[in-house]
Amino acid sequence: MSSRMTVNYNNKPCYDIVYEQSFDALWDELEKEGVSSRRVCVVTDSNVAPLYLKDILDVLDGKCLKAVSYTFPAGEENKNLDNIKDLYKFLIEEKFDRKDLLIALGGGVVGDMTGFAAATYLRGIDFIQIPTTLLAQADSSIGGKTGVDFDGYKNMVGAFKMPGLVYMNISVLKTLPDRQFFSGFAEVMKAALIRDEVFYIWLIDNLYEICGKEADTLEEMITRSCDIKRMIVEKDPTEKGDRALLNLGHTIGHAIEKYMNFELYHGECVALGCVCAAYISWKKDYLTKEEYYEIRDMFVPFNLPISIDKLDLEKVLEITKSDKKMDAGTIRFILLKKIGKAFIDTTVTDSEILAALDEINFDEENGD
Ligand SMILES: NC(=O)c1ccc[n+]([C@@H]2O[C@H](COP(=O)([O-])OP(=O)(O)OC[C@H]3O[C@@H](n4cnc5c(N)ncnc54)[C@H](O)[C@@H]3O)[C@@H](O)[C@H]2O)c1
Ligand SMILES: [Zn+2]
Repeated sequence: MSSRMTVNYNNKPCYDIVYEQSFDALWDELEKEGVSSRRVCVVTDSNVAPLYLKDILDVLDGKCLKAVSYTFPAGEENKNLDNIKDLYKFLIEEKFDRKDLLIALGGGVVGDMTGFAAATYLRGIDFIQIPTTLLAQADSSIGGKTGVDFDGYKNMVGAFKMPGLVYMNISVLKTLPDRQFFSGFAEVMKAALIRDEVFYIWLIDNLYEICGKEADTLEEMITRSCDIKRMIVEKDPTEKGDRALLNLGHTIGHAIEKYMNFELYHGECVALGCVCAAYISWKKDYLTKEEYYEIRDMFVPFNLPISIDKLDLEKVLEITKSDKKMDAGTIRFILLKKIGKAFIDTTVTDSEILAALDEINFDEENGD
């Protein structure tokens, strides 16, 4: 199977997302971006480079002005300005100018960093996303949010920068470690919870095919997840309103990510954050108790955590409140009216957050 969809920006077609099972169609897509007459730097990380960099350089070989590559050390802890600075230096040494192009080959970390470098180098050069994790394919490569972490704060420095193309070779997920795969799945579940109850039911019905990484099922899952994100970012590209819905599970999720010093993966923290958001939604009488338990327990067969050992509740609350998603002192929380219907709420209190954190806190002594 192969398919594509176009993402609009300011009501005009902006970039295509192409879904493939190989890199065979990559050159045709790159040619449409005028790559033949440009210098290209493929930016990747130290895990992805040995797996797929040669494939991409082979596609480019002899067909563009010059093809070079730059490899970041892998991992969220390297998503910072020091590494961006090293990439700028490399691009200057390689004499990259305004007409040249960056290709992000990797997960969300590579995508966010390459996009940020593309947004800022020479006040902006073009870039293309070739996402290689489930998280990046289903979520982060779309929508144009780019950036780095700063001083332990997630995505504190960044820019909006639309890619010229998103090329997905879904077969690369075969080499992705299972824990990373399921972490990415948390964002898929998040998309369903926000907007699409039918998709939520489809995910449950296709549990075995998804966990078995069955190619056609993954392609349909990723396409549907991207479509939800596409609809939301097209209406609100710069997060003035409804794009904030995509932060379901992220307010507390980011705080746990920081509290745990990034030992838990992003999607694992998002799953915990979604459980908290669903719990608060129940306590505020938006969801029934049954709906809350259904959402919470849905993460389990997808190998995602719904509780965590010995949380310092007050500390996590403090980090949650210092997160940048505060609006003049109030936290913009994303809650659920029902499965498939998220909304923004600014009335969540400290005690409601503490109660939700207590709910996911697994305390061996109390056995809860
Ligand atoms: N821009 C956005 O809209 C947006 C949305 C969601 C998340 N994010 C960001 O995305 C990041 C998380 O992305 P991620 O989960 O992809 O993390 P990641 O980029 O660190 O990738 C996870 C790991 O998998 C490895 N890897 C990547 N592709 C592989 C493959 N095909 N086979 C084997 N190993 C592979 C990577 O080297 C890395 O070690 C976070 O920094 C988060 O803030 C951004
Ligand atoms: Zn996320």
